[in-house]
Amino acid sequence: MDASHVGSDLQHVLLTEEQIRERLDELAGEIADAYAGKDVLLVGVLKGAIMVMADLMRALPFSAPVDWMAVSSYGSGTKSSGVVRILKDLDTDITGKHVLIVEDIVDSGLTLSWIRANLESRSPASVEICALLRKPEAAKVDIDVKWVGFDIPNEFVVGYGLDYDEAYRGLRDVGTLASHVYS
Ligand code: XMP
Ligand code: MG
Repeated sequence: MDASHVGSDLQHVLLTEEQIRERLDELAGEIADAYAGKDVLLVGVLKGAIMVMADLMRALPFSAPVDWMAVSSYGSGTKSSGVVRILKDLDTDITGKHVLIVEDIVDSGLTLSWIRANLESRSPASVEICALLRKPEAAKVDIDVKWVGFDIPNEFVVGYGLDYDEAYRGLRDVGTLASHVYS
């Protein structure tokens, strides 16, 4: 069974599966150039980054190890507060390693800037970020995201790993939710 039956809950499709795939191919080329001759550890942030990680790692021309972190941001509903708790830490000691954080979305930027600072405190060789989506109008902190797939409007989006109350992660496209879903 696929998830297309919930596609009718989308109001607008912002990005199709094909657009995402093409953009990740471009980013993978840039990432491969940047890490030429270096070992890089891909760190995905659960759960939203599962699809980005799956497609990005297959687009890379080399085989990189993958690890995962899960965090919870305290905050109400769809807003992040910047207070972060680690639910699942890395299995890997990143001392001396080049780390590339793979994320679904940078909204306020609070969660990612916390994760970055946390990883930087572990003495890695470098920490960079690749995020599929960014909402420039929602930024609350200045965060250097080296690779961004798409800048999108300041609206709540689902699909391609992103959820609303744990639903819609399996949608192949990214879109906004129809208002009937919220009511
Ligand atoms: P911040 O605001 O800290 O975002 O940059 C933290 C996390 O919140 C989730 N997030 C979203 N999830 N649609 C979603 O399904 C969205 O539009 C959205 N905006 C933020 C996401 O997990 C992000 O890492
Ligand atoms: Mg996330």
